[in-house]
Amino acid sequence: MYLLEVADLKVKVENRIILDGVSFGLKSGEIHILFGPNGSGKTTLIGTIIGLPTYEVVSGRILFMGEDITGKSVDERAKFGIGVGFQNPPEIAGVKLGDLLKFCLGKSLEDEFSEEEMRLIEAFRLKDFLKRETHVGFSGGERKRSEILQLLFLKPKVLLLDEPDSGVDVESLKIIAGEIQRYIESSGASALIITHKGDILEYVNAKYGCVLLNGKIHCFTDPKHVYEDIKREGYEGCIKCQVKSEEKW
Ligand SMILES: Nc1ncnc2c1ncn2[C@@H]1O[C@H](COP(=O)(O)OP(=O)(O)OP(=O)(O)O)[C@@H](O)[C@H]1O
Ligand SMILES: [Mg+2]
Repeated sequence: MYLLEVADLKVKVENRIILDGVSFGLKSGEIHILFGPNGSGKTTLIGTIIGLPTYEVVSGRILFMGEDITGKSVDERAKFGIGVGFQNPPEIAGVKLGDLLKFCLGKSLEDEFSEEEMRLIEAFRLKDFLKRETHVGFSGGERKRSEILQLLFLKPKVLLLDEPDSGVDVESLKIIAGEIQRYIESSGASALIITHKGDILEYVNAKYGCVLLNGKIHCFTDPKHVYEDIKREGYEGCIKCQVKSEEKW
């Protein structure tokens, strides 16, 4: 059974169709990679799945563990276990990162972090940031590291990661991607990762890669193969082969 299934999704933003019949399914333990040029609708897809009001569903359905969630609110979807790592995580002035991380873990502010939680905080190099206001004055990469750690602490069943690698240094990328892989393996969750680059593919065991172009998802095959094709042939060239897996993705 699919944890998350998107069926023939058509989405409008400001009166323009951005997604024009997108279908895919994510099973437990799977990581899928989504490529696509700027403006093709990758962030739109994630925003629609989590239910942000900017994105108007014209037709199609979003199912979580078989239940139709297309009409549900953002908080209902989050409570089901859909978690988003945003492309541009916002500043949250007045809220200390340490307090927010405790909130993500379901702890009270007086609680201490466990050894394992502290290990992750240190692995993400965020120990010195716990008393700072969340993302205020953070560098691009620091913001991304913080965003992904918050998401892992929320323990979602489906992770929708919008360019988790953008602006992240090579050392940090290895750690972040390694922890994402470890979380997927140990929890049976699944992840959709949007990226423009190939480095992250070295550290996660992704099953399929595909390309979002002209409102549709194309090619369902080895992500490294897709990435190499895009580099060589461009997005239009890459989708010409139209490789399709037998599965729905
Ligand atoms: N609120 C909005 N108002 C008007 N147009 C929008 C809005 N949000 C998105 N769009 C348009 O929808 C299209 C898809 O945007 P989206 O952010 O999904 O692209 P993307 O594939 O994530 O691109 P990138 O790789 O640059 O992150 C773009 O042309 C964008 O300008
Ligand atoms: Mg985007």
